[in-house]
Amino acid sequence: MIFGRQKKIDKETVAGKIIVALDVDAEEDAYNLVRHLSPPLGYFKVGLRLYMSCGQRIIYGLKNMGVRVFLDLKFHDIPNTVASTAEVVTRMGGDMFNIHLSGGRDMVRSTVDRVRETAEISRVPVPKVLGVTVLSSFNESMLRGDCGVDRHLEQHVLKLALLGEESGLDGVVASPREASNIRKNCEEGFLIVAAGVRPLWAPTHDQLRVLTPRQTLEAGANYLVIGRPIIEHDSPRDAMEKILAEIAR
Ligand code: C5P
Repeated sequence: MIFGRQKKIDKETVAGKIIVALDVDAEEDAYNLVRHLSPPLGYFKVGLRLYMSCGQRIIYGLKNMGVRVFLDLKFHDIPNTVASTAEVVTRMGGDMFNIHLSGGRDMVRSTVDRVRETAEISRVPVPKVLGVTVLSSFNESMLRGDCGVDRHLEQHVLKLALLGEESGLDGVVASPREASNIRKNCEEGFLIVAAGVRPLWAPTHDQLRVLTPRQTLEAGANYLVIGRPIIEHDSPRDAMEKILAEIAR
């Protein structure tokens, strides 16, 4: 765990823990954000919006800039469809991608197996595969009322995380508020990528279960996904510097 007994960490270490969500439409806007933020940041997330605008080109473009790419398309379909899609992502060279854990054990297992087989056959690195637990824009009444889940939100998140761990996933995407419970109950090396992270000075937007970047790392998250507080700031670079300084303080 990054903090553990150590209360002070340097900015470079912190920078390695931040993944910026490139939630923009235009390819050039995404590249400009990367130019502004990297270095010190080196991990960027391509979500549905940017991928639907640019397709695979954006992945190759970002890789050519020397940064790592988290493809956040949250696959959820029958096992064969998701596994076959994961094969494409693996050949493309994505560093990390995610699938919905609510797709069930067979879907998760087939995906993990296909990724490993493809990486071996194509002689490419094995991408990290993460499971989405419950979106950070959900609260408990939505989970019960809209999805009929008759369980506390934190218990449901943990149940999904354990399913992911048993099925061979590298980690999960979760809200910062569930990070400590997952960290307590899953193996040390199981990755927690937290989305819905908010510095105190930033609006929360549609994220309901937020913590600050420092609190999220203290809760045991390995990576922080941060979008609007950085990309919608008048100066993304200043926002990033402020976040790094707040964590490293
Ligand atoms: O702008 P903001 O910091 O809220 O962006 C969070 C990003 O993380 C968005 O791209 C969103 O799609 C993604 N995400 C999330 N919750 C998850 C998984 C991904 O907010 N559980």
